[in-house]
Amino acid sequence: MAYDPSSILLTDRVAFVTGVGQGIGRATALMLARFGATVAMCDKNRDALDDTAAAVASTGRPALARHLDVRDRTAVASFVADAVDAHGRIDTLVNNAGGTFFAPFLDVSTKGEDTLVLENFTQVTTLVRLVVPHMPAGGSIVNLTSIEAHQAAPGFAVYGAMKAALAHLTRTLALELAPRHLRVNAVAPDAIPTEGDRDVRSEMLGGDAGYEPAVVPPLGAVGHPDDAAAVVVFLASDLARFVTGTTIHVDGGNWAAGGWRRVSGASFPSEDRTG
Ligand SMILES: NC(=O)c1ccc[n+]([C@@H]2O[C@H](COP(=O)([O-])OP(=O)(O)OC[C@H]3O[C@@H](n4cnc5c(N)ncnc54)[C@H](O)[C@@H]3O)[C@@H](O)[C@H]2O)c1
Repeated sequence: MAYDPSSILLTDRVAFVTGVGQGIGRATALMLARFGATVAMCDKNRDALDDTAAAVASTGRPALARHLDVRDRTAVASFVADAVDAHGRIDTLVNNAGGTFFAPFLDVSTKGEDTLVLENFTQVTTLVRLVVPHMPAGGSIVNLTSIEAHQAAPGFAVYGAMKAALAHLTRTLALELAPRHLRVNAVAPDAIPTEGDRDVRSEMLGGDAGYEPAVVPPLGAVGHPDDAAAVVVFLASDLARFVTGTTIHVDGGNWAAGGWRRVSGASFPSEDRTG
């Protein structure tokens, strides 16, 4: 089948998105609806969820919202069942909810570690198991990982490890689910200012981190939550029908830059490094 401009549309597809109260999740729920999808969405923050749900409803697309914590398997299972009862299937699963706090690895308690594992990994495996039986051929799973899945993450060791685990799971699931004609991909954001990102960054800078990530990506400016949402829409659409098992970095070039940092306007230190 040839591609045409309608290949990007998600008309009447059913999308299930976690963590829609703010940031990338909110932008994603809204953009999925604008491209035609019916959106089932959840968040642990009731006010923020209600606000996003109202914005999605104003696009004219049907929406279903549930106040829940994705770490609560019973609540998630019940919402998946209700979404399937209401809409018959789930075409797109966007595992967006996730988060962390700043702490050097040796200061992370076992309780803190358990929370990070559940928050960034186990809730995703749970959702995949719950949703896949209701996904028709052509369905798409998109996991929000992080640049920290692909580079060291001082102060965020467990979070980074769980995002790396998610990137690996993405590849394996792409193979295991290919016979069902389901695609599985990851979006790895960085440098997209959001409420969550701002809170973690100020925790880090207040905590005498010792390291800090590059501030200005190679493209010369930080991104917007819509930049990540646009890639999720692409991955959910037929335009991405031959794309599976991979990660798209939405970071203004930070991952590609590796250790390189933009210094335009700055001059290099002049001390003699030879001796
Ligand atoms: N913004 C960035 O530059 C960036 C960088 C790397 C990775 N990410 C990843 O992208 C995703 C979205 O990031 P963001 O910056 O928009 O985050 P954010 O913290 O601004 O928003 C996250 C939303 O998810 C909700 N949420 C979090 N945990 C939840 C839970 N257990 N149950 C239900 N809802 C929950 C929050 O209430 C909030 O509404 C996350 O997985 C994050 O790790 C973002």
